[in-house]
Amino acid sequence: MHFAAIGRVPGDPILGLIDAYNQDSNPNKFDLGVGVYKDPNGLTPILQSVKQAEQRLVDQQQTKTYIGGHGDSSFGALISQLVLGADSALLAAQRAGATQTPGGTGALRLAADFIAQCLPGRGIWLSDPTWPIHESIFAAAGLKVSHYPYVGSDNTLSVAAMLQALEQVPKGDVVLLHACCHNPTGFDLSQADWLQVLDVVRRRELLPLIDFAYQGFGDGLEADAWSTRLFARELPEVLITSSCSKNFGLYRERVGALIVCANDAEKLKDVRSQLAHVARNLWSNPPDHGAAVVAAILGDPQLKALWADEVEAMRSRIAQLRAGLVEALAPFGLAEHFAHINEQRGMFSYTGLTAEQVQLLREKHSVYMVGSGRANMAGVDGTRLNLLAKAIAQVCTD
Ligand SMILES: Cc1ncc(COP(=O)(O)O)c(C=O)c1O
Repeated sequence: MHFAAIGRVPGDPILGLIDAYNQDSNPNKFDLGVGVYKDPNGLTPILQSVKQAEQRLVDQQQTKTYIGGHGDSSFGALISQLVLGADSALLAAQRAGATQTPGGTGALRLAADFIAQCLPGRGIWLSDPTWPIHESIFAAAGLKVSHYPYVGSDNTLSVAAMLQALEQVPKGDVVLLHACCHNPTGFDLSQADWLQVLDVVRRRELLPLIDFAYQGFGDGLEADAWSTRLFARELPEVLITSSCSKNFGLYRERVGALIVCANDAEKLKDVRSQLAHVARNLWSNPPDHGAAVVAAILGDPQLKALWADEVEAMRSRIAQLRAGLVEALAPFGLAEHFAHINEQRGMFSYTGLTAEQVQLLREKHSVYMVGSGRANMAGVDGTRLNLLAKAIAQVCTD
């Protein structure tokens, strides 16, 4: 038997959480596990701007032929402008270019294989903790994966420890940074912190790989790009992975890009030729539909304005839920204890709840979150904040 020795790998723990949540008959259950945005009705909506762009595509699209290894060039130009800024000097100098990928995950895998094949021997450094898929993607590409401290067991961001660790990273290694809305913790670097990280990265000649999966979900579309644009402006070479899953709500359409910033236009061409080669062996051509939707939106001032309003509505809803939960915890004397929830950014919050408290929340109060204490704030039902606060208070005093 060919398959006799093949064992079973454990499934994604979050999928197990979804099953348990779906089977729970408590009408007052909370799903704070899955990493998707939810509206006040608990739905992950299709944006109006997306619907309108899709209608246009149905009416106007002429062909479904292949779109080429780098994908749709108008998508590439528009996503580069969204990430780097419409007035980016790099774009004017043709020092930056985007390769369309199946989601941010595809961009990360393309970056991983590119590093493995074109920059052999370079290790990659991830924040501790980080999105678990970062760990497996780079390992799968054969890279040596190491970690720098980020958020410790006291549930605070330790920039000093991070900087100290980065000082020890071998010259030339790759360091992965979350542009904003750090997953899983929600703790972001301040602008002053970013300047310090830039200084180490420059001195140690590290190659930054900036994962930008939540543009618009932190402080706004432009504000969230601050760190990425700083690095792109100040350093000769940067890799950026951009995802349109969250901010366009296009999760299952698989839209993303790997944006490369190179020292000059000629070197960019060299690198892009390698990326097309690597992508050819991964997925040949990227899927078209989602990227065509994004290009239709970003290329039309009216649709873009509608989309920007929709992103802002998602962003401010999450911010309100953060503030609302901390407020709801105040009557229990816990507002200060959980004040960080309101300081964190993006969909996720490292609440600081222990694994036992998370288990109690699930068993006694039907509140579902990941064992690490990570809560998806976008999954919180704003009309039941008091109930959630009461449940949290109970497990904190049990
Ligand atoms: C940190 C981070 N990077 C990248 C991604 C990629 O997402 P997708 O492949 O769905 O675009 C995610 C999605 O959850 C993420 O949290």
